[in-house]
Amino acid sequence: MNMRVHLIAAARPNFMKVAPLWHALRAAEDFTPVLVHTGQHYDANMSGDVLADLGLPEPDHHLGVGGGSHAEQTGRVMIAYEKIAEAERPDWIVVVGDVNSTLAAALVGAKLRIPVVHLEAGLRSRDRDMPEEINRLATDVVADVLWTPSPDADANLIAEGIPPARITRVGNIMLDSFEMVRSRIEAEGVPEGLGLGGQPFAIVTLHRPSNVDRSGPLTGLVDALVAVQMKLPIVFPVHPRTAGRLDEFGLRDRLVDAGVRLIEPLPYIRFMCLVRGAAVAITDSGGIQEETTYLGIPCLTLRENTERPITVEQGTNRLVRADTLVGELERALVGTVAPVRPEYWDGRTSLRCVQDLRVRAVNLK
Ligand code: UD1
Repeated sequence: MNMRVHLIAAARPNFMKVAPLWHALRAAEDFTPVLVHTGQHYDANMSGDVLADLGLPEPDHHLGVGGGSHAEQTGRVMIAYEKIAEAERPDWIVVVGDVNSTLAAALVGAKLRIPVVHLEAGLRSRDRDMPEEINRLATDVVADVLWTPSPDADANLIAEGIPPARITRVGNIMLDSFEMVRSRIEAEGVPEGLGLGGQPFAIVTLHRPSNVDRSGPLTGLVDALVAVQMKLPIVFPVHPRTAGRLDEFGLRDRLVDAGVRLIEPLPYIRFMCLVRGAAVAITDSGGIQEETTYLGIPCLTLRENTERPITVEQGTNRLVRADTLVGELERALVGTVAPVRPEYWDGRTSLRCVQDLRVRAVNLK
């Protein structure tokens, strides 16, 4: 029997989760992966170049939904994907992460009674001001199979009443992507190209609406980054949302004048080369909290909470605010605690996913 698996990819952080699974399914004789790109992210450096870095082909289906409000994005994905899912009736639909397209495709699958698997299930920030938290909660309720990265995620699902038989802990698949292209990451010389060869530097990313969408919080963060730049050169690949806000609020020059290296978003391999070479990461991204824990690099997360508490408890992550950033930076740079890599964060998650699908397919018969 050959099972067709729709893999739904939408936004930049999804591609690193989908790619290892696509490759593992492709290598297996009993599966055929079908890549569905919703088009939530569309710039070359947010989408096409990242797919290419990870050895993914042109998507089998491209829904081209683009930007818009939450309802517009979610609705457009549902309308477009329903037609494809109905016509093809795949054996499985795998959705990843917590973006609007994740929830949209999960709802479509659930209504069509096609088994839905959520990869990266069970994460909770318990902060419903974060749109991703709503997507996580709703996706996990409708998904048939919950693939979790860590024990806290299992516990969250069980506390919400999800039957344990629906949960499989597979580990953190993003790190499979890292291992898949590690040699190419190590061969890149991005810091050197920025005049930072052999020097300590900080990598910064910011894109959460709560940090960047209003002038007050973003101004506070820009001022804190200027203070950091006095101690350590910053490289800041600027997400399109943040680029728009820096211009709107007239804050870009403050960073440039202080010497912060503002650059375009980078494809995966060049970006991970920067992370790997950095003395510290300062971010509000979910994925970077995990990648830095894996690499043993200190991470200062500019958020009030995290859906990835294991990166704080076992890894290198610390939650900070604009007004505590410089003090925490100093502490992080002299850090003495040896971080631990969580169980199953080992580059072999995609293989556990494929095996779980096989076992569950037998039980479905
Ligand atoms: C989305 C996800 C977020 C994820 C982030 C990673 C949701 C609710 N949010 O947020 O969880 O962490 O992706 O990047 O799904 N834009 C471009 N080019 C692109 C993509 C976006 O210019 O390739 C612009 C959009 O037009 C929009 C802004 O950037 O103006 C935000 O894009 P959007 O996809 O709505 O949300 P993100 O902030 O990227």
